[in-house]
Amino acid sequence: MKILLTGAAGQVGTDLLPLLTARGDSLTVLDLTPRPATCPAGVTWVRGDITLAQEVSEAVKQAQPERILHLAAILSATGESVPHRAWRVNMEGTHHVLEAARLFGVKQVFFTSTIAAFGPGLTDPVGNDVSMRPTTMYGVTKVAGELLGEYYQKAFGLDFRGVRFPGLINAGIPGGGTTDYALWMFIDGLRTGAYECFVSAGSRVPFMYMPDALRAVIELMDAPKSKLTRSIYNIAAMSPTAEEIAAEVRRNIPGVRLSFKSDARRQAILDSWPHVLDDSLARTDWGWRNTYDLKGMVADLMPKMRRLVETNRDLPVHA
Ligand SMILES: NC(=O)c1ccc[n+]([C@@H]2O[C@H](COP(=O)([O-])OP(=O)(O)OC[C@H]3O[C@@H](n4cnc5c(N)ncnc54)[C@H](O)[C@@H]3O)[C@@H](O)[C@H]2O)c1
Repeated sequence: MKILLTGAAGQVGTDLLPLLTARGDSLTVLDLTPRPATCPAGVTWVRGDITLAQEVSEAVKQAQPERILHLAAILSATGESVPHRAWRVNMEGTHHVLEAARLFGVKQVFFTSTIAAFGPGLTDPVGNDVSMRPTTMYGVTKVAGELLGEYYQKAFGLDFRGVRFPGLINAGIPGGGTTDYALWMFIDGLRTGAYECFVSAGSRVPFMYMPDALRAVIELMDAPKSKLTRSIYNIAAMSPTAEEIAAEVRRNIPGVRLSFKSDARRQAILDSWPHVLDDSLARTDWGWRNTYDLKGMVADLMPKMRRLVETNRDLPVHA
């Protein structure tokens, strides 16, 4: 399968590329950043900007993909610092991707939405088809991206589908999301022995371990269209509080000092999201099942986190 991935140098793409390469997909990446050393051989890397229609269109024309996996975005916390840029990348960029797909006959566009597409005041567990009134620029652009994709599906026959990811955890560098505190507990806990978390101890949002998230992408991407009753699906795995994550980190890094000092801006973003997602439609329609709960995730993650910290002495300092 020929697939073009946007934004594959990020937290998700870095782990997804080897999986897709291993199953024999022919991959082209379009990303602002240069090809990283970790990129598997055989992947064509195009350095380009999705806010520029010409660059997207040229990359799609050259690669002639059957599918586009659209990952490039400005995430929630960063998006609130640079809302105009978030609009350009997440909204105009998504439009350019859909338009290039239409122009060059791409069959499927896969969209990575988020729990941030929901707004405050919803009853947990939050279902697939509730009223979506997000209060962040990131959330606004993701809901609009979902709707725009559905418009392209209806108007032009594009196969548009995707998932709403919870906060994602892996042994990787966080990309500026509001759930990044979970990763920094591990990274700073290992390299400095301490971390002050930027949300309160009782903060609860949905999380997912990256291997489950990547499997969801691949399974939904490959699911027969006839089975899908929606284009965008909630997927869920666990909803620990920040303190529950910290307790697991403490069990695995003896002596680590983890504390909580809520940052008003990021706490407000987190508080506007669902605490628990209802993913029953994904389970019924295409057989989605998570594998990892909090304990299972931490057991698998710990050695990988240790390796990340040991082999990357110049890891960025968290915000
Ligand atoms: N990481 C999470 O916890 C999480 C949660 C929910 C949804 N998502 C969604 O999953 C997708 C991937 O997230 P991620 O964590 O890998 O993000 P990331 O921030 O780690 O990576 C984003 C990538 O997009 C690229 N990019 C940014 N602007 C670009 C532009 N103008 N042109 C081309 N490339 C550009 C960046 O260089 C980077 O490689 C995003 O759409 C995000 O909204 C992520």
